[in-house]
Amino acid sequence: MLLDLLHLLTTPAPRVQRRLGYLRDSIWLMSRARRCRRAWAPHLEASQAVMRAAIAATERRDTAVVLGSGLLLDVPLADLAAAFRRVVLVDAVHLAPARRAIRALPNVEMLTADLSGAMALMTGAARDLDLRLPPVCAEPGTGLVISANLLSQLPIRPVERLEASRRPFGPWTPEDGDAFGRRIVEGHLDALAGLTARVCLVTDLDETEEDREGQVHARHDLLYGVSLGSPERAWTWELAPFGETARHRCLIHRVAGFSDWRP
Ligand SMILES: C[S@@+](CC[C@H](N)C(=O)[O-])C[C@H]1O[C@@H](n2cnc3c(N)ncnc32)[C@H](O)[C@@H]1O
Repeated sequence: MLLDLLHLLTTPAPRVQRRLGYLRDSIWLMSRARRCRRAWAPHLEASQAVMRAAIAATERRDTAVVLGSGLLLDVPLADLAAAFRRVVLVDAVHLAPARRAIRALPNVEMLTADLSGAMALMTGAARDLDLRLPPVCAEPGTGLVISANLLSQLPIRPVERLEASRRPFGPWTPEDGDAFGRRIVEGHLDALAGLTARVCLVTDLDETEEDREGQVHARHDLLYGVSLGSPERAWTWELAPFGETARHRCLIHRVAGFSDWRP
């Protein structure tokens, strides 16, 4: 708790990210990752394996970009730094462990950006979603762009905020929650599809809430009905083992990995 407070006070993050709750979310994720280290290990290894396959198959070795780099738990950072002249890590928030991890890697840099295209809309600074990726993704030297367990996260805060709000965000009204979430998911995929670089996509697809007998009590589609086709690799991620959110319930996510994603 004290450690979380320290991160909240000392992390350099833009005011918008603080105000909209992105900094708090990252700190909360870091705490959960620490508590669930053992349960998460197979998922983190599987994610890294897909990214390593993408690195090995990429011919253009100038720049690699990681979207949703976060705490770098599922990102094979050393492999990327060894394989590419330059590695750019993009996230809404970069916490201290990630900042420390790149200190000894002079070819790795961090970029703070909103990848949902919704932050400016939420604060009233834009009239609609702006679904562009950072320009580095489309630079001629960029050979690999990895979307690292990011896609399902992009709509969470914006949809929550729109649904809780009594005023519209640009053309979106509080009743449009699902359509808004779907547009954010589609927007990220459309932007990835427009790149000439190889795209590696790792994302969770849905969440089930199960009891100790394996009975499913709830299921949520995390991608708002958007289908990705057959993944190269698929696995489950025990996001919240028994006791994490409820004594007799666990949360399981299905995850898909594509080392060479195309629409
Ligand atoms: C499940 S985590 C990904 C884990 C990360 N790849 C790692 O290895 O730690 C999702 C990440 O998406 C980031 N994120 C969520 N919404 C974002 C947004 N609108 N723009 C940029 N990053 C965002 C979060 O800050 C978080 O780091």
